[in-house]
Amino acid sequence: MTNDQNNVRIAAEFLEEKGLLEPEFGLILGSGLGELADEITDAIAIPYEEIPYFPVSTVEGHKGQLVYGNLSGKKVIAMQGRFHFYEGYGLEAVTFPIRVMKHLGVHSLALTNAAGGISYAFTPGDLMLITDHINLTGQNPLIGPNDPEQGPRFTDMSQAYDAEYQEKIKQVASEMGLDLKEGVYLGLTGPTYETPAEIRMCRVLGADAVGMSTVPEAIVARHAGLRIFGISCITNLASGMQATLNHEEVVETTTRVKETFKALLKNALIAL
Ligand code: 6GU
Repeated sequence: MTNDQNNVRIAAEFLEEKGLLEPEFGLILGSGLGELADEITDAIAIPYEEIPYFPVSTVEGHKGQLVYGNLSGKKVIAMQGRFHFYEGYGLEAVTFPIRVMKHLGVHSLALTNAAGGISYAFTPGDLMLITDHINLTGQNPLIGPNDPEQGPRFTDMSQAYDAEYQEKIKQVASEMGLDLKEGVYLGLTGPTYETPAEIRMCRVLGADAVGMSTVPEAIVARHAGLRIFGISCITNLASGMQATLNHEEVVETTTRVKETFKALLKNALIAL
């Protein structure tokens, strides 16, 4: 098994030798947010392909490296580029970096992504604080033998997204004069965007936004006992709410919003 504690330890020890010591926050930088890693000072960057047992990123526009250093006065490890299930990686590979970050000592994880808006209250370009998620991937990264060293067999997801962090982030947004939305993120595997009927279903189920990432990482992070928070960039409205969907629009919106997104994340890190 890829996620064997042995492999996690080997990867973590490799990174410790490179100087990745005593990190506090893990950051998963989603589409368009990778640039935030360039603002990390005293940075040590390590391409994924150099790290034992790490999968290698395939999506264009993702650099595929870990960047360690200081951001907003915190010691962070940022993933510049994440792994998606739709790329063909197993969920163990998708979530391996979370296990490694936990082993290195992070206590918290920030999850960011691009998502489609389902709530009628959202406009493309909005940022949404994730209050909860719905796992509609049909998968779970914790299926299989449980290693009690990594976490419990049955993981409580009743307060997955840290309530105290949410309060602080809302406070930070309000101080910035930012109209931060909040809502439930529904995760699917992709790589297709949804049909209009699927989006109507998602809305009935209680989703405010939909995307193809984050849920597996959130589950493994909670299994590992990490405190998490998540922020989605609503890049477009979901299927049936606008004429057509395409990746170019996703990229265009993340580019338009990234300065605000980066500022929110940096200010959140100061406050947490
Ligand atoms: Cl509309 N759906 C999904 N699954 N992912 C997205 C999206 C929509 N918009 C951005 N990412």
